[in-house]
Amino acid sequence: MSNVALVSDYLAEQENKSLLRFITCGSVDDGKSTLIGRLLYDSKLIFEDQLAALTRDSRKHGTVGEDIDFALLVDGLEAEREQGITIDVAYRFFTTEARKFIVADTPGHEQYTRNMATGASNAELAVILVDARYGVLPQTRRHSFIVSLVGIKHVILAINKIDLVDHSQEVFERISADYREFASSFGFETLVPIPISARYGDNVFERSAKMPWYDGPTLKEQLETVNVVDDLEHKPFRMVVQWVNRPNLDFRGFSGTIATGSIKPGDEIIVAKSGRTSKVKSIVTYDGKLAEAFARQAVTIQLEDEIDISRGDVLAKPSQRPEVADQFAAQLIWMQDGQDLMPGRPYLLKCGAKSVTATVTELKYKVDINNFDHLAAKTLHLNEVAMVNLSLAEPIPFDPYDENHETGSFVLIDRLTNQTVGAGMIQFALRRASNVHLQALDVDKVARARLKAQKPAILWFTGLSGAGKSTIANLVEKKLNGGGQHTYVLDGDNVRHGLNRDLGFTDVDRVENIRRVAEAAKLFVDAGLIVLVSFISPFRSERRLARELVEEGEFIEIHVDTPLSLAEERDPKGLYQKARAGQIKNFTGIDSPYELPENAELTLNTAEHTAEELAEAVVKHLRDNGYVS
Ligand code: ADX
Repeated sequence: MSNVALVSDYLAEQENKSLLRFITCGSVDDGKSTLIGRLLYDSKLIFEDQLAALTRDSRKHGTVGEDIDFALLVDGLEAEREQGITIDVAYRFFTTEARKFIVADTPGHEQYTRNMATGASNAELAVILVDARYGVLPQTRRHSFIVSLVGIKHVILAINKIDLVDHSQEVFERISADYREFASSFGFETLVPIPISARYGDNVFERSAKMPWYDGPTLKEQLETVNVVDDLEHKPFRMVVQWVNRPNLDFRGFSGTIATGSIKPGDEIIVAKSGRTSKVKSIVTYDGKLAEAFARQAVTIQLEDEIDISRGDVLAKPSQRPEVADQFAAQLIWMQDGQDLMPGRPYLLKCGAKSVTATVTELKYKVDINNFDHLAAKTLHLNEVAMVNLSLAEPIPFDPYDENHETGSFVLIDRLTNQTVGAGMIQFALRRASNVHLQALDVDKVARARLKAQKPAILWFTGLSGAGKSTIANLVEKKLNGGGQHTYVLDGDNVRHGLNRDLGFTDVDRVENIRRVAEAAKLFVDAGLIVLVSFISPFRSERRLARELVEEGEFIEIHVDTPLSLAEERDPKGLYQKARAGQIKNFTGIDSPYELPENAELTLNTAEHTAEELAEAVVKHLRDNGYVS
């Protein structure tokens, strides 16, 4: 809307009315856009020029003859109108005498679960729309599931288009009963079905004369009176430090928005993770110092003592500390189209202002969101929801999502593309490894390597099947061994007969294959060996994972660069022929991807050089860089 500025001025005038945030869920066909348009229209928050445009547009695009098509008011963009769907989350504002409202308008269209989860995450109530002619549909179940998943406790079931079923009480009662039955396990605190006609306004703002049998609230009344104590400020104090504010030597403050709770000068403060404590000296805002500050306020907190606090730290009170853990059980919604969840792959987990590397260590089950069955799964596709265990590279402070949405939710980001791929809600910390401490050993990597007169390293050979990885690795090992070096070879075909015999060639299995091999290679490096790893290892993410497991300089990525056509021509094991014939599925280069290395230490061109020459080049690299003498 172009009137956001005007609207916010208007809202500012109404500071002392309470605010209700809600979302609307339903499909285009359920009349969702019409309902929102109606709410905006009846609350008179449509400006004259918009109204004129709307009347024009209704003639052009509308589906309701000479009447105003309220759907056009919110369906915004031309492109969306033409497709007949709304795409992203849009926030709309309106107000009545009693309350002001922010509506997150989220698309009902099946593919947009993620938008809905986004819109719902800070809503207190959901209006779930059904078409009176069709009642509870699979999408109604999906919407309700997401609503309960993100912790919304108040629901209005808007049974719309009641005019199309002759304002029938019987239809209303039947749909209400159906819905109550299936929603009974969701733990909604209020669930109020209301028969409405968004198009004609019946029971939206005005009580309908056509349904004398209905004595419940109108939609407006329910929205105005539903008791959703905004309890953010009654929860334990939490503030994520967004930045450390140090304008001059005399002032050091910690800025952020208070997520929950309240704080005042003199209160004791603890840094959740480090456990360091101090007292609040003052609370500064643009409007001056505050005697007390509450949830949702942006403030700068000045402390009595100089303690170590940085961006991403969570401030709390010592008596109500958040938990700190590096392993959790969580619910995860997958949001990436065309890129599935890979358990074992490192992602960036962002919780508050803190980002840490994290992997899904276990996919316990996914939820069929049509009937809520638990299904076994190895991966997640767009819009799927699962219970998972996560393991983080370092502990973070958090609260279970049930207790605190702000400090209990996170997103997962792909480390290579920077796209948000998932959103999650922390359920509880896992204590599994907390009493297994690393055993300190007296003989270490340095001592072991010294005895072998070498610098341990991983020589990571990557390339297509048949590229020549194993052949070259074998020659390199022979040369090193002959020169008195201590080596070991981990080869795909061999390891897949033992350690990784349970894995196949799906993307998910390859990720796990490489993860295990990387961990094994790390142990060999720790043993002081030069370990030659010869795996297709087709994904950048996992090669990077392997690189990050060891120290700087201990990972040498060697791209055995053989064009597909040449590897296929050689076809040493006859596998390409089988793959082309469709007898082998997911074959690298044929129907499974190979992501080219971007910063390999060495690239071996097998089209122009013999294996012998290339092996010599590898040994030379080791000599030149002091790995062997
Ligand atoms: S990786 O992709 O997970 O790194 P890995 O190197 O362990 O693969 O195994 C590759 C070897 O398995 C190939 O050299 C080939 O001999 C054999 N193989 C069998 N099926 C496939 C397949 N679908 N794709 C690739 N290699 C396969």
